[in-house]
Amino acid sequence: MFDFTDIEAKSIPSAIDMPPGLMEDCEYVFSVTFTDPDAMDIKALANATSRIITREGESLSTYPPPFGHEGLREFIASELFENRDIKVSPDNIFLSSGAGGAVQIMIDAFIDSDDVVLMDEYCYHGSLNMFLRKGANPIHVKMDDQGMIPSELESSIKSFIKDGHTPKMIYTIPVYHNPTGVTTTLERRKAIVELSNKYSIPIVENESYADFRIDGPDLPPSMMSIDKAEGVMYISAFTKLLGCGLRLGFGVFPDSAKESIQKVSLGRSPSHLASMSVYEYLKGHKTSYVEGVARSLGSKRDSMVRALGEFFPPTCTWTEPKGGMLIWVELPGHADTWKALDKAVSKGVKYNPGSIFRADRKGGNKLRLTYSHNSPEDIEKGIEILANVFEEEGLF
Ligand SMILES: Cc1ncc(COP(=O)(O)O)c(C=O)c1O
Repeated sequence: MFDFTDIEAKSIPSAIDMPPGLMEDCEYVFSVTFTDPDAMDIKALANATSRIITREGESLSTYPPPFGHEGLREFIASELFENRDIKVSPDNIFLSSGAGGAVQIMIDAFIDSDDVVLMDEYCYHGSLNMFLRKGANPIHVKMDDQGMIPSELESSIKSFIKDGHTPKMIYTIPVYHNPTGVTTTLERRKAIVELSNKYSIPIVENESYADFRIDGPDLPPSMMSIDKAEGVMYISAFTKLLGCGLRLGFGVFPDSAKESIQKVSLGRSPSHLASMSVYEYLKGHKTSYVEGVARSLGSKRDSMVRALGEFFPPTCTWTEPKGGMLIWVELPGHADTWKALDKAVSKGVKYNPGSIFRADRKGGNKLRLTYSHNSPEDIEKGIEILANVFEEEGLF
């Protein structure tokens, strides 16, 4: 028998240590930012798909344009202008396999091993792991409830420049941040862009959650719209909104990044059928659909916040988000949420230990809970179970 493990490529990056429980099936999934199934409109999506296949189906016989479906890219350009103040041509947008696919393309185009990448104090583990697999050196910059702290960012930049390692990129999630939920304020956005200009370090802003305002204030404009030096790239997706399984996201880039992005994106465009369906569906439904998502997520958030108040002791704190789909919880300092995950999973509840969001695995007494997947009733049951596990395991 041939054994393929014998010929495994030497360039495959070594696995990143993650808690095994995260891969288990569970009844209460508080660990993944799944699309809210209760807000989905399957019938309308099916109708839109049927309509567009009838109209444009023949185009599936050829390969799509290199950056993906033109109509969808035009739609994205007009939405970005309307909602995020970004003026961009559809030619400066590429469709990708989810937001994650766009992050990977930007990493492949611009990051070498050992490059210093400045990122939020905690960073969505999917992106963090992509940087780590590339061999980059992620440096976490302290945040507060207004976002990344500019003075901390500048002192980090200065110290790396002094050592001869000018940081290659600032990577940030400035809207309903994953995992802490913070939205970076306008003043902070301006200050971060100013530092980017001053030290010639480009920014990648991942606004995957910009469509997920529940009842908070309007979002500040994107950094890409504030920046005048064309030093910002932008990422978002339709995955969280319409279906993770659609695997559809996008990246936006200034002219000078085009050639490098073209070099690495060949053959990596997402399914043209998914792009066609999403385009046809969103054209007619975006506003009402986004409102429905906000209503559904609002009641799930309320349910989780209520349950945390009822079942978690006052020694714990948590956020009460105005948008997005996650709550950031802090337990007493001695708690080890990585270690307790196995026990929670054995009782049917999954969450994300805080330390998976840091390259140095600090933050062990924190955890991220997502509320998009289960019903409000199940969320309450799941949080009660989780509180009992933490109590039994001595985390409280
Ligand atoms: C900030 C952020 N970026 C990227 C992703 C990956 O999402 P996608 O399924 O669109 O690739 C996620 C998913 O949780 C996310 O929160």
